[in-house]
Amino acid sequence: MRISILGCGHVGLVTGVCFADRGHKVYCIDIDPKKIEMINRGKPPIFEPGLDELLEKNVKSGNLTGFLSKDFYSRRIPTDISFICVPTPSNKDGSTNLKFIKVVSKDLGVYIKSLKEHHVVAVKSTVAPGTVAGVVLPILEKYSGKKAGKDFGLCMNPEFLREGSAIEDFINTDKIVIGSIDERSGDLLEKLYESWKKDIPRIRTDLRTAEMIKYAQNAFLATKISFINEIANICHRCSIDAKNVAHAIGLDPRIGSKFLNFGVGYGGSCFPKDVKALISTSKKHGYNPVLLKSVEKINQKQALEILKMAGDVEGKTVSILGLAFKPDTDDIREAPSIKLINELKKHNVVIKTFDPKATENMKKLFPDIIYTDSPLECLKNSDICFVMTEWKEIRELKPKDFLSSMNTPVIIDGRRVYDPEEMRKYVVYKGIGYGLT
Ligand SMILES: NC(=O)c1ccc[n+]([C@@H]2O[C@H](COP(=O)([O-])OP(=O)(O)OC[C@H]3O[C@@H](n4cnc5c(N)ncnc54)[C@H](O)[C@@H]3O)[C@@H](O)[C@H]2O)c1
Repeated sequence: MRISILGCGHVGLVTGVCFADRGHKVYCIDIDPKKIEMINRGKPPIFEPGLDELLEKNVKSGNLTGFLSKDFYSRRIPTDISFICVPTPSNKDGSTNLKFIKVVSKDLGVYIKSLKEHHVVAVKSTVAPGTVAGVVLPILEKYSGKKAGKDFGLCMNPEFLREGSAIEDFINTDKIVIGSIDERSGDLLEKLYESWKKDIPRIRTDLRTAEMIKYAQNAFLATKISFINEIANICHRCSIDAKNVAHAIGLDPRIGSKFLNFGVGYGGSCFPKDVKALISTSKKHGYNPVLLKSVEKINQKQALEILKMAGDVEGKTVSILGLAFKPDTDDIREAPSIKLINELKKHNVVIKTFDPKATENMKKLFPDIIYTDSPLECLKNSDICFVMTEWKEIRELKPKDFLSSMNTPVIIDGRRVYDPEEMRKYVVYKGIGYGLT
């Protein structure tokens, strides 16, 4: 099939590359000329394990080509399916900002007008229930002059990939959710996933249900994280090691061990904004989502739990190991490290940082702090070390590395990276959920 991908960020580029690798003809379209230039050189503009080889291979074979939006539309290249993969950030009140969705829907409406053949628009961006039918559809109809469900198809195909394992998640997903306004467009989308494993459930729904599935899933995962963080905070104050508690309860198959890692809270481009958007959607429909509000509140203050443990930081040199919101990504959106840096900057503190991939992104936000190329250089001459992301090179540090580099090492581990018993033989070691002693 011929596929156009609108928006070549984490979701769009991975979607494009994976379909191209299955033999489809993919056009990756973006408004950012730098991204398109890199894509056409076979170089991914984002870091994602395995993406570089797959992109290079499919650009070379001619299965994937990057286009600036205006160039793609002016050439009137016909395709069978368009995927909307543009950002859906939060407004100040937590509702979803639909400005990117609206622009791309208008572009697509004009594009569909010029097409002779039937075309399907599939939304992969995460949007609140009712958005595809209530916002995307009327814009497409207005600018195409055609009728949805008759002249063109419309689907909601939410994406469940995780940054850091995006390609694996896309190919070996646990489900493929296809919400559609009509059978025909849903069938076409299902056909596109034909080469995916047969035992992956294909879930066919209406548009609204497909939109809700994505929100409900992210809200549940965020709830699990805030729950274990709350338990860890209580354990900490009761001098109980939360690690043992999390391990034991995770053995119950009704609970499961995944997403029971307590720490500095969730970040990234999805959980924070999606929980806020579901809260906003609930309110719009007259429901007070007490649980989701608490999930968000716990997460807001979780990153600062570790700052409390540091005591007086005034005038000290602080090292921060890890900036990305999780390992194996360069994404810093809503990263807990940002909250920590903002708080530290209120004090007279020298901030040194290390992250294997996220430094360039963080420099745009905080040009005035120190960025180093190795964990040891970061630790050098610092008084307090905060561990914020569990990268491999950070996990591999030994007590001697802290002892030989820091002044009098105080380590505050926000990710339970090290063994507290071992560390406490050599250094002052604190962290969420270890007990106050
Ligand atoms: N990142 C994830 O892990 C993830 C997972 C599942 C779902 N999602 C959802 O997918 C959507 C995209 O997320 P992302 O992380 O890939 O975003 P991103 O910010 O990484 O990328 C979005 C891209 O869209 C481009 N863009 C903006 N307006 C455009 C336009 N008019 N035409 C063409 N391109 C345009 C931007 O330049 C950017 O390259 C969001 O709704 C997000 O919630 C993200």
